[in-house]
Amino acid sequence: MRIAVGSDHAGYELKELLAAHLADAGHDVEDLGTDGPERSVDYPEYGEAVGSAVADGRADVGVCVCGTGMGIAMAANKVAGIRAAVVHDVTTARLAREHNDANVVCMGGRTTGSQTATDAIDAFLAASFEGGRHVRRIDELARLDSADSEERPPTRS
Ligand code: RB5
Repeated sequence: MRIAVGSDHAGYELKELLAAHLADAGHDVEDLGTDGPERSVDYPEYGEAVGSAVADGRADVGVCVCGTGMGIAMAANKVAGIRAAVVHDVTTARLAREHNDANVVCMGGRTTGSQTATDAIDAFLAASFEGGRHVRRIDELARLDSADSEERPPTRS
């Protein structure tokens, strides 16, 4: 499988660990940076890079890591066609695939330990989209990708 990986500085070490784990398992891993933990960088750049690689078909799935997984997931999800899920363990990783057909998996280098992270990535890749009732919901997400923002109701907080 072709897998694009990316992180900011806070996710660098876990990204490196996951990239090595995936390469050891025989996957074709493309590392889109960042290249070290010392320089503070901004996660949107790397979330966009991974999301674009998947959306453009250069990668089958993406792996994103920042401090919590959340910011880089928000960035990846801005790319049309991307369904990026923050996962914390084997169960959330499996369900991200089975129910949400996630094509980018995101984790936190400051929140998820290395064994949990490698177990989660393995569970994500081993799982398959269940289809059925979930197809309609995925189609609704795709509609949001193309919807004119002026047609949407105002968001509330
Ligand atoms: C960087 O300090 C941190 O804010 C970032 O990696 C991430 O956790 C944001 O979601």
